[in-house]
Amino acid sequence: MINTIDYQKIFFEITSDFKETDDIGTIATYIPELGKVNPKKLGIHLTTIDNQHYAFGDSEESFSIQSVAKVLSLTLALKIMGGEIWKRVGVEPSGSAFNSLVQLEYEKGIPRNPFINAGAIVICDILVSCLDKPKQDLLTFIRETSGIDSVNYSYQVAESEKKCGYRNYALVNLMKDFGNIHNDIDIVLDLYFYLCSIEMTCKQLTQSFMFLASGGVNPITNQSVISPTRAKRINSVMLMCGFYDEAGDFAFKVGLPGKSGVGGGIVAIHPGKFCIAVWSPKLNANGNSYKGMKVLEALTSKTQCSIF
Ligand code: DON
Repeated sequence: MINTIDYQKIFFEITSDFKETDDIGTIATYIPELGKVNPKKLGIHLTTIDNQHYAFGDSEESFSIQSVAKVLSLTLALKIMGGEIWKRVGVEPSGSAFNSLVQLEYEKGIPRNPFINAGAIVICDILVSCLDKPKQDLLTFIRETSGIDSVNYSYQVAESEKKCGYRNYALVNLMKDFGNIHNDIDIVLDLYFYLCSIEMTCKQLTQSFMFLASGGVNPITNQSVISPTRAKRINSVMLMCGFYDEAGDFAFKVGLPGKSGVGGGIVAIHPGKFCIAVWSPKLNANGNSYKGMKVLEALTSKTQCSIF
């Protein structure tokens, strides 16, 4: 498939339309280490499935990918355990904040989906049960999937979050009480905090997520990461649940499966066409990158390139 769209030109058009005063978000400070990031950063990288690259701004600077990494832990859990995982976590949008405890109480410890914190913690519990060295094995999987050996955890970010992760401790305790956490809670949360601390550049993110644009095979490394059916399902969960209580808004305005993180990163997939990553640290009230959402909305509006 030959790409005929000049994404580079479009990135310049979109970003020159932005005014400084338009970026009304605030950076995440509830994890102290994230509060140190320069809020003015803006990186965009788009990789097509035939390996053409379009970059803008700080696209080769590493940042904390946070919840974006939850797609990769889900992929590994699915690869190892298959459909069994859906007995312990759902595939429905939560319509509530990423760290909310409310539904968990009346839904008996089964999180709505694997991308809210509770669901991602259950996925970490599953990985702790099946992997010999969970942190090391997860990192190896991510390095192999992306073809990038330098991808790593940030000790500073993980330990910073561990010190103030009160809600995550509450979530894991509640689920342990309901019998949906099988391992020691500190071991499970250790994996969760390190998962969220992974650092990548926008360019690396597109390489890591390329398999979702290409039926489960990374077209750059030719490696089969997951079956086409599972790649379809992961994209579906991203579309429905990737932006927490703003998932509907993202699908409505952007029209692509995507996943955000409180580090200000967003990855979006156009199956059969491309993977794009945007990084802008200021977040809107729902914890999603304010400018990142705007960039992606403008991109799919200008190119008419969404899944719909
Ligand atoms: O558990 C937390 O609060 C963070 N490590 C992850 C939050 C996150 O990125 C959710 N995002 N939008």
